[in-house]
Amino acid sequence: MINENQIEDTLKSLFENISFSDEPAGLYDPLRYMIGIGGKRVRPRLCLIAYSLFKDSFDERILEPAAALEVFHSFTLIHDDIMDNSDMRRGVPTVCRKWDNNTAIISGDVMSIDSYRRIAMAPVEVLPQVMDLFTTTAAQVCEGQQYDMDFENEKTVSMESYMKMIGLKTAVLIACSAKLGALIAGADRRSCDLLYKFGYDLGLAFQITDDYLDTYGDSAVFGKKIGGDIINNKKTWLLTRAIEKGEELENSGAIDPKFGKAALLRTMEMKAENEADKSAKIDKVKEIYEALGIDEDVKYEIIKLHAQAMNYAGMIGLTKVRYEMLHRYADRLLDRNK
Ligand code: IPE
Ligand code: IPE
Ligand code: MG
Ligand code: MG
Ligand code: MG
Repeated sequence: MINENQIEDTLKSLFENISFSDEPAGLYDPLRYMIGIGGKRVRPRLCLIAYSLFKDSFDERILEPAAALEVFHSFTLIHDDIMDNSDMRRGVPTVCRKWDNNTAIISGDVMSIDSYRRIAMAPVEVLPQVMDLFTTTAAQVCEGQQYDMDFENEKTVSMESYMKMIGLKTAVLIACSAKLGALIAGADRRSCDLLYKFGYDLGLAFQITDDYLDTYGDSAVFGKKIGGDIINNKKTWLLTRAIEKGEELENSGAIDPKFGKAALLRTMEMKAENEADKSAKIDKVKEIYEALGIDEDVKYEIIKLHAQAMNYAGMIGLTKVRYEMLHRYADRLLDRNK
């Protein structure tokens, strides 16, 4: 059986040895930069773990598709940072700041193309299913990103719309990572589908954790500036739940109206032109979240989704050792501060 140390060593050498074309440097340097600074590699790790549930050794036909997941994900981050006007990513300046928006657009494009070259190295027996899964997922991520931007201009969104949006922008790629590993390992359809569901619920919890850290994280560890979501009026889990709960508590007279829905909606009108405006807006929103107890609610939601994910994992019929590998992955994914 492939153990977790082997998976970590394989991941490490996969990204140390990954190569992109050299010229023009203006196009390819940002790719090397993004991959070189390294993120948590959660998607290729999950893909290799899912593969290891059914196979005893790695070869190119799993390694290149696993790398494709990280390359594709990093491409989405390069474009996301333009869309979210973000300065910092993985503890260093974003591509759009270190270079410029035009560079970020075209380097992102070629990175997305590179991910297709790698995914197409999947075994020919499962290639049609792999391409269908990857292409569907890639389009869904774009759909989710569009909803995310559309929602910036909405006053409020329902929790259902929020969950659909993060399902598309984040959860499907994590679900795809799990299913891809199983598909390439030749697992049966039922196991592939259960791993997809496992990844999807975990992906929802992962994005909700990201929303939490965007407000409550430590920038030096998280690697991104704190409060960007509040400044951009992003419809995060925290804001969506606070609006819902603010209204409920206000209607029942259980909370001072200065912490209710109308107060929250007013914070969204606050301008954020300079650093002083921005921190005043962030502080105001946090004050309301704290009065409403949103930080407790968010933790409960993450635990609930984690349990749902583990329930799917439990249905696959894995040996105890293999099930525990998925369990540790899930725990590590959500118990994070970066
Ligand atoms: C950030 O993804 C974007 C989200 C989907 C929340 P990660 O948190 O996986 O970012 P890196 O790859 O570790 O930098
Ligand atoms: C990003 O969501 C999801 C994708 C990149 C598809 P966020 O905008 O919350 O990600 P971060 O916080 O910038 O990493
Ligand atoms: Mg975004
Ligand atoms: Mg962003
Ligand atoms: Mg975020």
